[in-house]
Amino acid sequence: MIWTKEQRYRRIEEASKEEILNLQAAVEGCQWRQTFHIQPETGLLNDPNGFSYYNGEYHLFYQWFPLGPVHGLKYWYHTKSKDLVHWENAGIGIEPSSKFDRHGAYSGSAIEHEGKLHFLYTGNTRDENWVRHPYQCLAFMDVNGKINKLEQPVIDHVPYGYTDHFRDPKVWKAGNEYYAVIGAQRENETGCVVLYRSLDLQNWNFEGELRTSLSSFGYMWECPDYFELQDQGVLIFSPQGLTPNGDLFQNIYQSGYVLGEPLDVRTRTLTHGSFQELDRGFDFYAPQTMLAPDGRRILVGWMGLPEMEYPTDKNGWAHCLTLPRELSIRGSKLVQQPVKELQGLRKQQHNISDVLFDEKNVYEHFNGASFEMICEFENFDAEVFGVEFRAGAKEKTILKYDAVQKKVILDRTFSGEPVGEQYGTERKCSVDGTKIKLHLFVDISSVEIFINDGEEVFTSRIFPGADSKEIRFFAEGGRALFQASKWDI
Ligand code: FRU
Repeated sequence: MIWTKEQRYRRIEEASKEEILNLQAAVEGCQWRQTFHIQPETGLLNDPNGFSYYNGEYHLFYQWFPLGPVHGLKYWYHTKSKDLVHWENAGIGIEPSSKFDRHGAYSGSAIEHEGKLHFLYTGNTRDENWVRHPYQCLAFMDVNGKINKLEQPVIDHVPYGYTDHFRDPKVWKAGNEYYAVIGAQRENETGCVVLYRSLDLQNWNFEGELRTSLSSFGYMWECPDYFELQDQGVLIFSPQGLTPNGDLFQNIYQSGYVLGEPLDVRTRTLTHGSFQELDRGFDFYAPQTMLAPDGRRILVGWMGLPEMEYPTDKNGWAHCLTLPRELSIRGSKLVQQPVKELQGLRKQQHNISDVLFDEKNVYEHFNGASFEMICEFENFDAEVFGVEFRAGAKEKTILKYDAVQKKVILDRTFSGEPVGEQYGTERKCSVDGTKIKLHLFVDISSVEIFINDGEEVFTSRIFPGADSKEIRFFAEGGRALFQASKWDI
């Protein structure tokens, strides 16, 4: 189906009851609905927005086009949770309703101020020639969950030297000042991040560009996020326009970070190491972090990518969010671990340990379509070893360690219904060690894999048939000892 501009920019109330019911029925009939991930009731989900803790609950919004699996008129949809695991749908958060956000309430962030949760987000507008005019807007939610907007934008123009690709403010507080980073494109069509400062979230001063050592690194940086962790400064962003390089930058767009000294807000200088990808899988973009009340820095990403078709499109919906991950710094790396609250999803536990010698084995109780599994391999001299999961007669998703190349490889060539094959069907990254620990969260149409306690993460959608449920352990060209625990979810 071809979506015209008119169809993509329809408001939700312009759809008839019948249209919505038909859409809901198509979604309900989809074999790939998730069981423990945030997913849209209908239509398309993209970036996580406004991730915060307020009034005793976590709040997590997402970019949402309700009427189909395409990028159209974006709303903020609101979900909330007491434990970061069980999320309740709370309805539309911000609608694109004013002169300054009429073509979409685009991405942004949240912070508590004077008892209300404030949202700083990009109002997307287009003029009669379909030229973008972005505004940075403010809205606030009270303890009853009611959201109001400030009538006028708080940043009403793009500063000199930048194009209309100017969006996704992420706000934080330092002392009694507020700061915000915004993703931008310079007039020479290179990406960067700019910094604003405010005392009250309403009057913002343009401070200038963040000085990084990445002066020509892609054409646009979306969804920046700055925070400090273990006395270091971390800048996360999603650059567009990087060229694939070996195992790196294989997806259509990237998401990653630089680590270094804390940002000097006066000189806007960030002294940092090289750009590193946050995720090595097929489907990960536009992550956002928040600071939990207990001091943990928690990240959620969009488990999808722009400009790609997915098999759920034909059922009227697309995408989900990743599980929340706690961040920490280990050496020169940002490490991601599933938040401990996720253990609350664990049902029946099964354990095995075995030595594999040039063989592939299945074990009683080791199967399923939605489960958590931790699997440690050691004492290996095999050339390759690993697991196949969501496997059946014809399908399997393969996660393996190539001990010769010293690489972890995720292979979705045979995962089921194809997706994004033009970008390849394998993802790899270097991992070294005498022990390889694989921690998987498998849902009906996704897998998130934490390698060696979060040193690397692979996040991917997969679209297998409902009866592809086998888990198989294998070693090739030698021996590997392993032990595994699996919990049904
Ligand atoms: C990233 C992004 C943001 C924008 C939003 C619109 O995926 O393009 O830059 O605010 O999505 O939905």
